[in-house]
Amino acid sequence: MAFLPRAFLLLFHILLARSVLGKLKLSMVDNLEVYLGDSATIPCHYSFTDTEKEPSFFMIQWFVRAAGNGTRLRIYYGDSSQQVIDSNTDYTGRINVTSEKNESKLFIGKVQLSDEREFFCQVDGLAAGSNESKTNLRVFRPPESPVIEGVLTGISVTKKGLSKVASCEVRSGFPKPNIIWYRNEEALTTVPHKVNILTLVTRESSGFYSVQSTLEYKVEREDENSLFICEANFSVPGAIRTTSTHAVNITVHYPTTTMNLWKGLPRGLVKEGDTVELRCRGDGNPPPHVIFSRAQEPDKVLNSGGNVLTLSSVTRKDTGTYQCRPSGVDESSKVKAEMNLTVHYLDPAVVVPRETEIMDKGEKLAATCKALSSLPTVTVWYKGPNKVGQGTTLDLIASSYQTSGEYKCQVTVPSLPALNTSGSVHIIVQGSPQVEGAQDVALEEAVGRTVNLSCKALGHPQPSISWSIAGSQSWKEIVNRAHEDSVYSLVSIEVTSDISAICNASNNMGAETKSFQIKANPTIIKFPEGSGIIIVVIILCLLLLAFLGSLLYFLHKKRQLPCKLTKEKTATDDREKKGNAQNEGTPLNMTNGEKKSPNEQ
Ligand SMILES: *[C@@H]1O[C@H](CO)[C@@H](O)[C@H](O)[C@H]1NC(C)=O
Ligand SMILES: *[C@@H]1O[C@H](CO)[C@@H](O)[C@H](O)[C@H]1NC(C)=O
Ligand SMILES: *[C@@H]1O[C@H](CO)[C@@H](O)[C@H](O)[C@H]1NC(C)=O
Ligand SMILES: *[C@@H]1O[C@H](CO)[C@@H](O)[C@H](O)[C@H]1NC(C)=O
Ligand SMILES: *[C@@H]1O[C@H](CO)[C@@H](O)[C@H](O)[C@H]1NC(C)=O
Ligand SMILES: *[C@@H]1O[C@H](CO)[C@@H](O)[C@H](O)[C@H]1NC(C)=O
Ligand SMILES: *[C@@H]1O[C@H](CO)[C@@H](O)[C@H](O)[C@H]1NC(C)=O
Ligand SMILES: *[C@@H]1O[C@H](CO)[C@@H](O)[C@H](O)[C@H]1NC(C)=O
Ligand SMILES: *[C@@H]1O[C@H](CO)[C@@H](O)[C@H](O)[C@H]1NC(C)=O
Ligand SMILES: *[C@@H]1O[C@H](CO)[C@@H](O)[C@H](O)[C@H]1NC(C)=O
Repeated sequence: MAFLPRAFLLLFHILLARSVLGKLKLSMVDNLEVYLGDSATIPCHYSFTDTEKEPSFFMIQWFVRAAGNGTRLRIYYGDSSQQVIDSNTDYTGRINVTSEKNESKLFIGKVQLSDEREFFCQVDGLAAGSNESKTNLRVFRPPESPVIEGVLTGISVTKKGLSKVASCEVRSGFPKPNIIWYRNEEALTTVPHKVNILTLVTRESSGFYSVQSTLEYKVEREDENSLFICEANFSVPGAIRTTSTHAVNITVHYPTTTMNLWKGLPRGLVKEGDTVELRCRGDGNPPPHVIFSRAQEPDKVLNSGGNVLTLSSVTRKDTGTYQCRPSGVDESSKVKAEMNLTVHYLDPAVVVPRETEIMDKGEKLAATCKALSSLPTVTVWYKGPNKVGQGTTLDLIASSYQTSGEYKCQVTVPSLPALNTSGSVHIIVQGSPQVEGAQDVALEEAVGRTVNLSCKALGHPQPSISWSIAGSQSWKEIVNRAHEDSVYSLVSIEVTSDISAICNASNNMGAETKSFQIKANPTIIKFPEGSGIIIVVIILCLLLLAFLGSLLYFLHKKRQLPCKLTKEKTATDDREKKGNAQNEGTPLNMTNGEKKSPNEQ
């Protein structure tokens, strides 16, 4: 109904506008960028240059460029009397237009992907002129985070051409996101025979873009440590944003070029009896299976468990050069490793003279102790707990029987203390018997008592002791002990009269004697058991006698006494003298001496 007069008006206006040019200026932004789902406001600013001819009537219309065929489609009409949002367009119900004095604003709620198009603003002031301008609406939708996938299988450096290393996908972005590959933070670009990047872009039914990228790469050995990262970049209103994936590494397979062979066990020097472990490793990936052999017979493969060769209880025969190489490589290959194994040893000590050696007194002897070793040794000689010499030779002088004994030599290897050995020699000094102590012994003993006489003699061969005892019928040998080179004899003799005893130690080299002279003292009487009371009585008698003696002496001084008592006096004097002399002897002797007088009386 209202359409017909409006169409006429428009036609009329167009004819009129042709005659008045350049009177209306429009200003719009070229591009307006918004996120999908946000709202957009497109302003259209207009001004009439000739203010005198400012129109009393003008129309504002908004158009969009139709998708596909490029024709324009009106979505809004407005003039001073009416404002119409065209029905049956994509924008019906989605837009509002607000008009101010010199500006029209197109408001679009909830921007869709299809809104990425040109919006035209047309102003027609009839005689005042008409003009139009446009804004390109750009819609953005950030993609999902990119996803990287590394190639899990090993990649061989010997493979011809490029190998797929990783792939990356970034989904559902608008406009199309980009993918950049990084290797250790360095961006990769296509380089012939080195890097190739295959990109596949797909448009989803939703209109979003998904980008898939495959990195093909010439893998080198050092890439076993390389990290690959995929980065997606995409535009957002007013900026370009980037998101990265985590880093992936790849398994690089490369051939073995060098082998390593070393001793795992034991630590330090190897000695006979040790268990030795030789370990071998090739620098290839995956590590090669290895085989061991001795350098002398490289084609004889030693039995090993994996890359470890175990030699149990090694001997010096195991000393030598060992080698290992990757299995499947023949022995002439340069890819191999060698090492020298030295098994150290110390043979049992050999002592010269062997076992037992008899030396004459005064004789000299150089004993030697030798133990063959692969390492420097130290030899120390011991006699019992005492160190008596150092070095392989021990100079011995049979100066006395003390020289006899067991001499032990201890051979050690300072650099390998677990290696040690020892040997010994038994030295016997031979000679005539030598009796200990003084040659002649004199002693005095009371008659009736027993004395013990001992005699000890050294000598080799072992001496025998014989006693010849004169003056006693009752004697017996109560101890006779013989050690290697010494003999000890103890005789018990009952003293009846003076005794002369001779201990004769003899062997086939000679004899030595020791004599004992025992003076039997008859005054020395031994009391039987329980004679204590008798002694007390005797002492009391003596005291009485002494008292009597002193009384008589006193009386003699006072007056003349009968000659009958003179003898008694003389006896007393004698007794006094004798007592003084016998103070040097035993008190028992004195007592015995005094005891005699009453017996005689
Ligand atoms: C239309 O507007 C532009 C810029 O505003 C101006 O340069 C041009 O002269 C105008 N044209 C007319 C016919 O008024
Ligand atoms: C252009 O496309 C629109 C819809 O997209 C349609 O209505 C119109 O008829 C088309 N015009 C031509 C000339 O094909
Ligand atoms: C346009 O304006 C009317 C009235 O103010 C309002 O009801 C409507 O929701 C608006 N449309 C949009 C798309 O904002
Ligand atoms: C037209 O808009 C400009 C701002 O772009 C403003 O400065 C000016 O005053 C407006 N003119 C009128 C007549 O309101
Ligand atoms: C985004 O990716 C493209 C294509 O790889 C590249 O040319 C561009 O430099 C990248 N931009 C940024 C900011 O990274
Ligand atoms: C590289 O890969 C190996 C397994 O293939 C893994 O154990 C290692 O942690 C990875 N290193 C890095 C830095 O990703
Ligand atoms: C092993 O010993 C031989 C001679 O004893 C020597 O020529 C060779 O260099 C040694 N090899 C190693 C790996 O030490
Ligand atoms: C001798 O070797 C044994 C082991 O064979 C060791 O226990 C001992 O300590 C060594 N002795 C010395 C004196 O080094
Ligand atoms: C003599 O020796 C024997 C045995 O050793 C001992 O029993 C005895 O008492 C000794 N006699 C004397 C008087 O020493
Ligand atoms: C000691 O005994 C030896 C051997 O029986 C004999 O030849 C020697 O004459 C004896 N010596 C004495 C002093 O009796």
